[in-house]
Amino acid sequence: MAQEMIRSPVFSVISTALLVSHLILAAVSHNEDSPVNNSPPNAGLFPSITSTLHSWLESHNEDSPVTDSPPNAGLFPSVTSTLHSWIELNMKEYNERKGNFARGFNRTVLDNTLVAAEDGGVKVITVRKDGSGDFKTVTDAVNSIPCGNRKRVVVWIGFGEYWEKITINRTKNFVTFYGDPNNMPKIVYNGTAAQFGTVYSATVAVESDYFVAVNIAFVNSAPMPDGKVGQQAVAMRISGDKAAFHNCKFIGYQDTLCDDRGRHFFKDCFVRGTVDFIFGNGKSLYLNTTIQSVAKDCGVITAQARERVDDDSGFIFLFCNISGVGNSSTYLGRAWKERPRVVFAKTYMGTIIKGEGWSDNSHPDRDQTVYYGEYKCSGPGSVSSARAKFAKILSDEEVKPFMSMSYIHGSTWLLPPPNV
Ligand SMILES: *[C@@H]1O[C@H](CO)[C@@H](O)[C@H](O)[C@H]1NC(C)=O
Ligand SMILES: *[C@@H]1O[C@H](CO)[C@@H](O)[C@H](O)[C@H]1NC(C)=O
Ligand SMILES: *[C@@H]1O[C@H](CO)[C@@H](O)[C@H](O)[C@H]1NC(C)=O
Ligand SMILES: *[C@@H]1O[C@H](CO)[C@@H](O)[C@H](O)[C@H]1NC(C)=O
Ligand SMILES: *[C@@H]1O[C@H](CO)[C@@H](O)[C@H](O)[C@H]1NC(C)=O
Ligand SMILES: *[C@@H]1O[C@H](CO)[C@@H](O)[C@H](O)[C@H]1NC(C)=O
Repeated sequence: MAQEMIRSPVFSVISTALLVSHLILAAVSHNEDSPVNNSPPNAGLFPSITSTLHSWLESHNEDSPVTDSPPNAGLFPSVTSTLHSWIELNMKEYNERKGNFARGFNRTVLDNTLVAAEDGGVKVITVRKDGSGDFKTVTDAVNSIPCGNRKRVVVWIGFGEYWEKITINRTKNFVTFYGDPNNMPKIVYNGTAAQFGTVYSATVAVESDYFVAVNIAFVNSAPMPDGKVGQQAVAMRISGDKAAFHNCKFIGYQDTLCDDRGRHFFKDCFVRGTVDFIFGNGKSLYLNTTIQSVAKDCGVITAQARERVDDDSGFIFLFCNISGVGNSSTYLGRAWKERPRVVFAKTYMGTIIKGEGWSDNSHPDRDQTVYYGEYKCSGPGSVSSARAKFAKILSDEEVKPFMSMSYIHGSTWLLPPPNV
């Protein structure tokens, strides 16, 4: 099981009750990107002359930060077949957003620090095992990025297996790992809890903000636990805020992906594990991600670590696919901490999911405090007649706060994978 957490969450001072209060409190706790700070002083008023009405409407209508909350039009599409075009429409490249911005549209107000970083001129450095790049190891490339980094550095990683254990220092913001799209590179190590402690066992640990990974496999190759202590083995720990993972793989057994803290976006990813293999106190959206349980006996997908009432963390899975080996052997989540929040929406659940679906981890008192929701899922594992009493089948209204990029304040920082 996931035994330790790295630090208590520093910015999770947010009410769970209403998205509106999320946004207001988020403004207090997130400084530079707060919707309140970013909005023009006259946010609510119509413009004073008709010639600017059109651009005003453009900027106030859809995903401006002020209305970055229901009834915002930014809800995800209802069917997976339109997800791709929805993403194309809603997740614009930096230059396009900047262009809109320059033309006076405030549809998308990005963090000032992110704007400064992207405008600073993106630096690309290359890693190739054969020595034809700037570096032979990812570690050397990361070491070349200065502490206090303020501009986007893309580390382009060529095909191959990199036996490395990497920590990105919290002062190295704006780092992108970009793997060869034709031949995904693998970063592999075999750290375990016995050697390093669970959270420090990660093959790659990211402590900085604005991290992006595209086309990378993060692997912890320690053997499948056989019941001895200390066999937890993390492949990736993401502890920074505003991180995005596109088309990445996370491969391990127990505790594969430590979604530790901060707002995170995962799209088109693959996560393999056995027990608690997506765990931590992150506030994350997982889109179109395949989750594969390979537990021999009893598997558990999530161990979300929310504890405090005023903490806004939680894992949201949308259009995901749960597969794996075994028959009714795996829980969607267990109440490792007191108030976990996990929602599976429009997700295919294979036969591996247990009828009861969720576990209170032998803490009946947590039946009152967990937030375990399901919304319009499909597949044999989604049959809910035997579901634990404390699991919720969410209504359209209840699921709404979790069904848009607003959940992670995406309009202020989320960009599509870069073109490199
Ligand atoms: C858009 O937002 C920026 C940053 O908050 C602000 O400086 C600018 O005046 C806004 N533009 C419009 C047209 O509202
Ligand atoms: C991160 O970098 C800073 C500045 O170089 C340094 O003082 C600090 O010790 C580093 N942190 C870790 C955990 O290595
Ligand atoms: C990790 O790999 C090294 C080198 O292959 C090996 O010596 C060590 O026993 C492995 N450790 C674990 C925990 O598997
Ligand atoms: C979902 O992810 C897979 C990769 O796992 C990708 O091939 C596919 O295009 C993605 N679908 C959408 C709708 O983005
Ligand atoms: C789910 O993923 C598995 C394994 O990748 C695949 O075989 C299956 O077709 C997928 N099912 C759906 C409904 O997408
Ligand atoms: C799964 O297990 C149940 C009860 O243990 C059994 O009835 C069912 O036939 C099994 N299904 C498969 C595909 O093994």
